[in-house]
Amino acid sequence: MSTSMPYVLILFYSRQGATRAMAEAMAAGVESESGIAARLRTVPPVSATCEAVDPEIPAEGAVYASLDDLRHCAGLAIGSPTRFGNMAAPLKHFLDGSSELWMNGALIDKPASAFTSTASLHGGQETTLMTMLVPLLHHGMVLSGLPYSETELFTTTTGGTPYGASHLAGQRSNRSLDEHERHLCMAQGKRLARLALALAPMREGS
Ligand SMILES: Cc1cc2nc3c(=O)[nH]c(=O)nc-3n(C[C@H](O)[C@H](O)[C@H](O)COP(=O)(O)O)c2cc1C
Repeated sequence: MSTSMPYVLILFYSRQGATRAMAEAMAAGVESESGIAARLRTVPPVSATCEAVDPEIPAEGAVYASLDDLRHCAGLAIGSPTRFGNMAAPLKHFLDGSSELWMNGALIDKPASAFTSTASLHGGQETTLMTMLVPLLHHGMVLSGLPYSETELFTTTTGGTPYGASHLAGQRSNRSLDEHERHLCMAQGKRLARLALALAPMREGS
């Protein structure tokens, strides 16, 4: 068993920065809780030619996630831009490579939640969030979203759903997170951190 600080893995993909901004707000929420850290990790794009490989370390931003980042996390927040109402292929590709963790039950009883960014308000935030959670159920993770005690869920006119945080980035993908969206990202991160800490003793006792 590792004696190092537990962490919530914030695993995201972002081309234009909107999902990255959400991931950073989520990390701030995780780190507002003591005794747990946030670990921001991304995934490389997938290429049409399987010979093409990205450098091991990206030129900027979060480093690429390894299976060990996922294996040893105490909780997971997974974030993707919406692509045709679903998660982006690079994240799906990463998850499709996680069979070994599934076979070993490495993620069972760990909390997980999802977040997404879209160009248009009704462009598939909820379908993306719900479908992103499906593979995590196969892994035995404990799913969490956002409860309506976060009253921003009632007042937002942009992103924010009970299925997870969301962001309306606009057609040019240049709209920043507004106050409601940022609050909900942070609240989701904080809740995940608390759930991760609460579920850890149960896992250690099993
Ligand atoms: C291939 C593709 C498909 C997309 N599909 C949708 C969609 O179904 N609904 C939507 O609102 N936006 C869609 N978008 C827009 C992105 O979801 C949006 O720009 C998002 O905020 C980008 O996030 P990022 O800045 O983290 O890359 C799509 C973009 C691409 C490139």
